[in-house]
Amino acid sequence: MTATDTESRTPAPTAPLLEVDDLQVEFRVGQGVVSAVNGVSFTLEPGRTLAVVGESGSGKSVTAQAIMRLLQTPPARITGGRILFQGKDLLALPETEHRAVCGEHIAIVFQDALAALNPVYTVGFQLTEALRARRHLPRSAAKKRAIELLELVQVPNPKQRVKEYPHQFSGGMRQRVMIALALALEPEVLIADEPTTALDVTVQAQIMRLLGEIQRERQMGMILITHDLGVVAEVADQVNVMYAGRVVETATVDDIFARPGHPYTQALLRSIPRLDRKGQQLDAISGRPPELNRIPAGCPFHPRCERAEDICRTDPAPQLRELAGGRTAACHFAE
Ligand SMILES: Nc1ncnc2c1ncn2[C@@H]1O[C@H](COP(=O)(O)OP(=O)(O)OP(=O)(O)O)[C@@H](O)[C@H]1O
Ligand code: SF4
Ligand SMILES: [Mg+2]
Repeated sequence: MTATDTESRTPAPTAPLLEVDDLQVEFRVGQGVVSAVNGVSFTLEPGRTLAVVGESGSGKSVTAQAIMRLLQTPPARITGGRILFQGKDLLALPETEHRAVCGEHIAIVFQDALAALNPVYTVGFQLTEALRARRHLPRSAAKKRAIELLELVQVPNPKQRVKEYPHQFSGGMRQRVMIALALALEPEVLIADEPTTALDVTVQAQIMRLLGEIQRERQMGMILITHDLGVVAEVADQVNVMYAGRVVETATVDDIFARPGHPYTQALLRSIPRLDRKGQQLDAISGRPPELNRIPAGCPFHPRCERAEDICRTDPAPQLRELAGGRTAACHFAE
């Protein structure tokens, strides 16, 4: 599928499942403050996939962890904003209630399945326990469902494999088990944080396709954090581009590829290999992202931006503003 081939994707959005509004997260490290998330806002509708892209350290995982309340405090502190699930402010809930809402409605899949699975229990036991605890299934029904879930994520010979331990699975198969565990909860929202980065390219593509199919079939909302713009083109509906803890552009997947508005998005797109530019050098983005305890004044991208002018250094950081066609970008000159 190409970036322009979206006819089969989800129809027009309905009421948001998840709304993140002006989220701010800091880390207090020694005497300094690392501003990891600086006013991130977005919405996720049922049945839609929101891709979050941006260089390493741009605040993608911290945003996801803040939603799930997985950040350790200290050093992390959510200093502002709201996270609404079906209208309920998750940040205002006591810890136990928050855990109950996430346990029932929001699941997360990480890059490192081995770390997330318990090595001393069989995969079947872990799936069965999750189903018993969260979906309140009796043991026999949970065992049956565990096998069905492994089938759903295309683990071969699931009746046998439920009896095996995580180390007996290959990396790709373990990642499928992680996805099965997340799906066991039948979440309305699935957050996938680089779920396939550790795997080889063919397995990555298979798992991403599978996740996309399950997501569409179940009308889950999915937040997909990835470095892989090929995957974005294939599965996303909407794309958020992050830089230095901010969303600097948001647009439909077609618009992001066809008419990116922000110079950073344009540079990101130039840095990926393209079949029609075979043999040409990639334009890696020059310079490095800022340290988040020393974000430059003005537009945070100005030291690396080809289009920077005086106003980019002297005026406060540009906020997201609407461009033609419903796109938004945080740049004085984006059009
Ligand atoms: N435990 C921590 N202590 C201090 N700072 C942290 C901690 N975790 C994250 N940070 C800061 O938050 C920033 C954003 O981290 P985050 O993990 O969200 O990046 P990311 O966009 O997910 O990057 P990657 O693509 O490499 O996964 C980091 O650059 C770092 O400065
Ligand atoms: S505001 Fe200026 S520095 Fe920032 S992205 Fe736009 S042109 Fe570049
Ligand atoms: Mg990350």
